[in-house]
Amino acid sequence: MNPQLVKTAVGEWPEENLRSPLAPQPHSAVHASATEASFRATCAGQAERAHPLRVTFWRGRVALYAILKCLGVGAGDAVLVPGYTCFAVPQAVLFTGAIPIYADIAAGAFNISPATIQAALHEHRVANLKAILVQHTYGIPTNAPPIVAWARARGIAVIEDCAHVSGSRYLDEAGEWREMGSAGDAAFYSSQWTKPISTGLGGWATASDPELETALLRFREEQCCPPPLGERFSLAAQRAAYKIVSRARSGWHVKRAYNWLYSRGLLLGTSTGAELRGEMPARFAMRMSAMQSRLLCKKLAGAADHSHARALRISYDRALESIRFQPLAEPAYADSVLLRYPVRVPEKQRILAEARRRKIEIGDWYSRPVDRPESLRDKTFGYREGMCPEAERAAAEVVNLPMHGGVTPRIVNQVAGLLKGFS
Ligand SMILES: Cc1ncc(COP(=O)(O)O)c(C=O)c1O
Repeated sequence: MNPQLVKTAVGEWPEENLRSPLAPQPHSAVHASATEASFRATCAGQAERAHPLRVTFWRGRVALYAILKCLGVGAGDAVLVPGYTCFAVPQAVLFTGAIPIYADIAAGAFNISPATIQAALHEHRVANLKAILVQHTYGIPTNAPPIVAWARARGIAVIEDCAHVSGSRYLDEAGEWREMGSAGDAAFYSSQWTKPISTGLGGWATASDPELETALLRFREEQCCPPPLGERFSLAAQRAAYKIVSRARSGWHVKRAYNWLYSRGLLLGTSTGAELRGEMPARFAMRMSAMQSRLLCKKLAGAADHSHARALRISYDRALESIRFQPLAEPAYADSVLLRYPVRVPEKQRILAEARRRKIEIGDWYSRPVDRPESLRDKTFGYREGMCPEAERAAAEVVNLPMHGGVTPRIVNQVAGLLKGFS
């Protein structure tokens, strides 16, 4: 093989095309957070007690809740969250007794910015802001350093929502590439079904301050219960079923099978019945099970190769350009490894309906600024229409394209063929 070509599931690409225009350093040269390094050590069976890096939980939202509790967030406090997010995020804030304040995403982007944070704080006259939640939506980094610098000067914590992140990096002030999750005071991750590293359900927290990390560990030991046998068994059974179904070439079959099982009450939902009624479940704070933990270590060990995602991104860029759709613009400070490829489209609902008809896997995240189940209302989360106009626009316009390992050039062509009818 020509040494300058890299073979991936979506074809052969010149190696330089797999890097960002700013030519980031190879993965091994990235400054991983201290916690990242120590978790790898833990996974290798070393230093588990000496430095137990990531603090694992039953789900990502529990990790967020644990971080907020350990930062002392509670009744009377405010936490700034993006207006373009999953309801589990503001719900975890509400479970602490604090209130979520929504910052809009920047125009044409998917993440908040210093300007939108300032606008939200000004509009809501927030006096008691304890933390800012910075989400890296679809795997696209938010420019966190200026937000962190502003927050640190005011004693406000920054928590990074890395639920969509695996491999994305940002340029720090010194011009070095760093992993997401290392800029703020703490970060949390999700390993739910749809996330880059999946254990079915799961989540973990990291902290840059060793004291906060210790507090998180203590919180897990003292305030979290182990998952009951029934839930562990159910998750293990679902994982086994998911594995079988996902061998099918297209993610479409997985989705259909998942929906079929879910509609018959055979799946352990990502959200509990109480959460879907807007209530905090009695056993919300749960630890990660041993099965999830083992799987997470195994998956993390194999998660460093992002060549498929990088090649697929280029493939979508070219396909979209050729049908006159806007490819995703990469901010200069970012090197994104995408979980889903977002595209703004003219007729979102018709495109989604056509994708269902043709059995093409096109997603609709997020369908609302606070993406929530039908059983809940915006006001449950303190969101009012008009609060975040850019997020509302994105919810109305954005579809997302699959980025998983099963996406082949044929699927890219099918997606482009479908979108072309609406260009
Ligand atoms: C951006 C974001 N943050 C947090 C979460 C919550 O993660 P989990 O489902 O593991 O609690 C999700 C959802 O799944 C998410 O999309």
